[in-house]
Order: sequence, then C-alpha cells, then structure tokens
Amino acid sequence: MRFFQIIIACAFISSAQAAPSSGGRRTCVVPASGTNQTDDAPAILKAFKKCGKGGRVVFEDKTYYVNSALNITWLEDVEIDVYGTLLWSTDIQYWLNNSLPVGYQNQSTALVLGGNKVTLDGHGQGIFNGNGDFWYRWISQQENSSNYPGRPHAVTFNGLTNSIVRGLTFLRSQMWCVVKFDVRANMGTNFIRTMSIIYSHHVELSHILVNNTGNFVDSCNVRPCVTKNPPCRKGFYK
Ligand SMILES: *[C@@H]1O[C@H](CO)[C@@H](O)[C@H](O)[C@H]1NC(C)=O
Ligand SMILES: *[C@@H]1O[C@H](CO)[C@@H](O)[C@H](O)[C@H]1NC(C)=O
Ligand SMILES: *[C@@H]1O[C@H](CO)[C@@H](O)[C@H](O)[C@H]1NC(C)=O
Ligand SMILES: *[C@@H]1O[C@H](CO)[C@@H](O)[C@H](O)[C@H]1NC(C)=O
Ligand SMILES: *[C@@H]1O[C@H](CO)[C@@H](O)[C@H](O)[C@H]1NC(C)=O
Ligand SMILES: *[C@@H]1O[C@H](CO)[C@@H](O)[C@H](O)[C@H]1NC(C)=O
Repeated sequence: MRFFQIIIACAFISSAQAAPSSGGRRTCVVPASGTNQTDDAPAILKAFKKCGKGGRVVFEDKTYYVNSALNITWLEDVEIDVYGTLLWSTDIQYWLNNSLPVGYQNQSTALVLGGNKVTLDGHGQGIFNGNGDFWYRWISQQENSSNYPGRPHAVTFNGLTNSIVRGLTFLRSQMWCVVKFDVRANMGTNFIRTMSIIYSHHVELSHILVNNTGNFVDSCNVRPCVTKNPPCRKGFYK
C-alpha cells in the first residue's frame, strides 16, 4: 500500500535517553521501566522531543508500558526503530476518559503520530500491542458496542507525509486496525482494523502484520456483538 491520499483507520506508541549519535543523527534510546506499574509514555514523549527532528528514536528489544495517551505530531526527518513491544494498558476507564479525539465520527485514539519524512521501522520484530482482549471482553458486555465513544483506535497517523511504516506488527488493537478510505479512487472503505490514517499523503506501509485475534476473547465492534461480522481479518498486509 502506498501513496494514500486519505486513509482512515486505527492503533499506538513512544521514547528518551540521549545516546551517541549514529550516522550523524542525534539518537535517543527510550528507557523501559520494566513494569506496567510505571507508565513509559513520559519517557517516550521525552525522546521524541529531544530527537524527533533530524534524529533517531530507538525502542530496544524490551516491553514498553504505555499507560497514557500520546500526541506526537511535530516529527521531521526522523528515524524510529522499534525492536521491542509497546504494550498499551488495560485501564479502560482511563482510556474512555482520556483518549484523544480524531475529529470524525466522535472517534478517538490512544496515539497520534504525525510529521514529515518519518521512517517507522519495526525491522520485522517491533510490535504495537493494544492489549485488546480486555477491550473485546468489556465491549461485549456493553449494550451499544458499535463505535463506542472513547474507545481508542490503537494509532492514528495524522498529518503524516513523505513517510514509511514498515516491518511492524499490530496486535489486538483496542478498536479498529486500519481503515483505509480512499476518496480519490472512490473505493469505499477497506477494513484492516488497527490504525487510522488521516490528512496524510505519500505514506508507504509495507510488511505490516495485523492480528486482532484475541487470546481469550474475540475482537468485536458491532451491535449485537457478533464476532465474525464484519470478519476480523488477520494475516499479512503488504
Ligand atoms: C498490569 O498487569 C496486570 C496483570 O496483567 C493487570 O492486571 C494490570 O491491570 C496492569 N496494569 C496496567 C496499568 O496496565
Ligand atoms: C473517568 O471519569 C469518570 C467520570 O468523570 C470518573 O468518575 C472516573 O474516576 C474517571 N476514571 C479515570 C480512571 O480517569
Ligand atoms: C495534538 O497536538 C497538536 C499540537 O502539537 C494539537 O494541535 C492537537 O490538537 C493535538 N491533538 C489532540 C487530539 O489532542
Ligand atoms: C443504544 O442504541 C439504541 C439505538 O441503537 C438506543 O435506543 C439506546 O438508547 C442506546 N443505549 C445506550 C445505553 O446508549
Ligand atoms: C462523543 O464522545 C464523548 C466522549 O468521548 C461522549 O461523551 C459523547 O456522548 C459522544 N457523543 C455521541 C453522540 O455519541
Ligand atoms: C494471531 O494471534 C492468535 C492469538 O494470539 C494466534 O493464535 C495466531 O497464531 C496469530 N496469527 C498470526 C498469523 O500470527
């Protein structure tokens, strides 16, 4: 998938320690607290503030616990290398209260990422894990489950231009994964279910794996909660 004019969809992210520059770029290695009792989001934000313009932000092969919403829109010419896992917290009440509005359909997101010339590379091992099992169980208990207000998309790429997202796996999105809406081609809506992409152009997504199959509850975003309608797709999207 490349050169999206407008894409709407779902999913993610994070950063922080200054390290020696690599390839002439200022590099920030995001420290991982190692426990979900500690929110790694402030460290993620710090790294992007320090190295998000002309630099490099590195997530090591560790688990990063993302317990709060992140709005990172000012990126410019940055390399983001994700070797580990970003795992979103399961405090549903927190997210209902604090997920970030995306400006359409009263929907919201856990992570906004935007900017120009961004390379987000999971190198085939990076994972954004929305911890969706908790959401799938919870939503199945709600009277109205469709597009529940405040239930976040995992990631929204907002105002992302001339950028590449590759080699990344999106697991168990809190809500959607990717919904691509191509106005130009009038192709309608194409549900992939993980991230949303809005006001973006020249963004290439390649070698992305989306898997919203729950470990203990099936994904669901409709009312009544029929898990296979629409089908929650899984597999490789290139
Ligand atoms: C941390 O993990 C435990 C066990 O999975 C879970 O019960 C708890 O809700 C998590 N806390 C946060 C802040 O995600
Ligand atoms: C969410 O908002 C409700 C209503 O304002 C409040 O009672 C609750 O404490 C909040 N919960 C969290 C985790 O922010
Ligand atoms: C995200 O931050 C930008 C400024 O960097 C602001 O204009 C925008 O309203 C914020 N978005 C949300 C959803 O809070
Ligand atoms: C759920 O949606 C139905 C219409 O689809 C509406 O009549 C009802 O009031 C809603 N219930 C809640 C709790 O929002
Ligand atoms: C829009 O979302 C907010 C919370 O995110 C909620 O309080 C409100 O009821 C929603 N409006 C509609 C029409 O669903
Ligand atoms: C998707 O996730 C489910 C649940 O963890 C797992 O059983 C399945 O093997 C995964 N599929 C792929 C293609 O990774």
